[in-house]
Order: sequence, then C-alpha cells, then structure tokens
Amino acid sequence: MTTPEHDTPKGGTAGSTAGIDASEGQFSRREVLQLAGGAASLAAVRGAVAQAASPRTQEAATMARVELIINGEPWQLELDPRQSLLDVLRETLDLTGTKKGCNQGACGACTILLDGKRVTSCLTLAVMHDGAEVTTIEGLAKGEDLHPLQAAFIEHDAFQCGYCTPGQIVSGVACILEGHASSADEIRGWMSGNICRCGAYPGIVAAIADAATRS
Ligand code: FES
Ligand code: FES
Repeated sequence: MTTPEHDTPKGGTAGSTAGIDASEGQFSRREVLQLAGGAASLAAVRGAVAQAASPRTQEAATMARVELIINGEPWQLELDPRQSLLDVLRETLDLTGTKKGCNQGACGACTILLDGKRVTSCLTLAVMHDGAEVTTIEGLAKGEDLHPLQAAFIEHDAFQCGYCTPGQIVSGVACILEGHASSADEIRGWMSGNICRCGAYPGIVAAIADAATRS
C-alpha cells in the first residue's frame, strides 16, 4: 500500500539531488562533473517515483460490479475495472489452472471459453463481460470423469512440463466444437495460437484428432 514516503524520493525532494541545491546557482567544476556522472542514478530515482505512483492510482480506481457464470457457478464480483479476465480468474477467484505465459496475447496459455468461444483471457478486461459464461480448464471434467480431450492428452503423452496444457486443452475443445479438427493439418492451423515450448505438438495434434472422433 502507498505510504507517505513513496511521495518523494528518499534523501531529498524532486528539485534537489546529492545535497547540491540548484538555487545557489554556483557550481564548481567538480560539482558539475559529479552531476553529469550522477545522471543515471537521477533517472533511476525518477523511475522509482513513477512506479511508486501506480499503487496510489490503483486505490483511486472505482470498483465495478460484474456478474459472471464461471464453470456453471454464478459470481457477483466487485472488480477494479482494469483487471484482465485472466487476473480475476487467477488472483481473485484462485482458479489457477488457467496459466499466465506472455500476458500479451502471444502464447495461448491463458485460453478460456467465453460464451463458448475461445479467448485469450490476458487480453480482455473482466468488466467487459458482465453476464458472460466462462469455462476454464477446471470446468471441463465432470467430477472424477475427465473430459475426453483431457483423457486423450494423457493417452497421447501430449505434454511435457504441462504449463501450456490447460490452454491447449481448452483451445482444443473449441477447435473440435468449431469443426476444425478433421485433419492434422487443419488442427495445426487452428491451434497455431497455442505455443508449446516443450514441442509436444505431435501428441497434442494426435490427442485432438482422437478426441474429435469420440465427440
Ligand atoms: S498469457 Fe495470454 S496469450 Fe500468453
Ligand atoms: S508442455 Fe511444456 S510448454 Fe507445452
């Protein structure tokens, strides 16, 4: 939380540095060289002030009421309107199955279903989806029974570290529902937004093709 000491850099005010007061107007040659040498640290102090300002801005944010149905369960939430859907799932609701990879829409690790359509949840604000239905990886199994694609991922050894896996599975479920899983090439094309740094692609494609025949 913001504390009063965040308002000014330690050891001085915005108008002075290193004990040299500009109002005196007279610098020795040595002092001028010291000032030039200290430019980098002055820039660092400015950076620290800018960072310190952001929690204050957060506190000032007006909270928004949002209703979501998440994995079939209704939620009424008071949210910072700047929270991404991914952060709400992971940090507010503790649904950490959805992963944060790049946090900029490039890796697909955060894929969820929003009203049945796959979406990268890091790129959309929760407040924009009042009343929407969200399905995460936690919502796919029925009790002890895995979703057919979850079972196929295990059978086809479709993961290594597993970090991309929730996003791959949720995206794969949508890929099948969309009718884009009729061939390995088609699956590769429609799953291209989901990156696997372990290179488990052959197993992922095989699992989706297999689950598509069972759906
Ligand atoms: S974390 Fe959302 S696309 Fe990478
Ligand atoms: S299984 Fe490791 S990134 Fe895909």
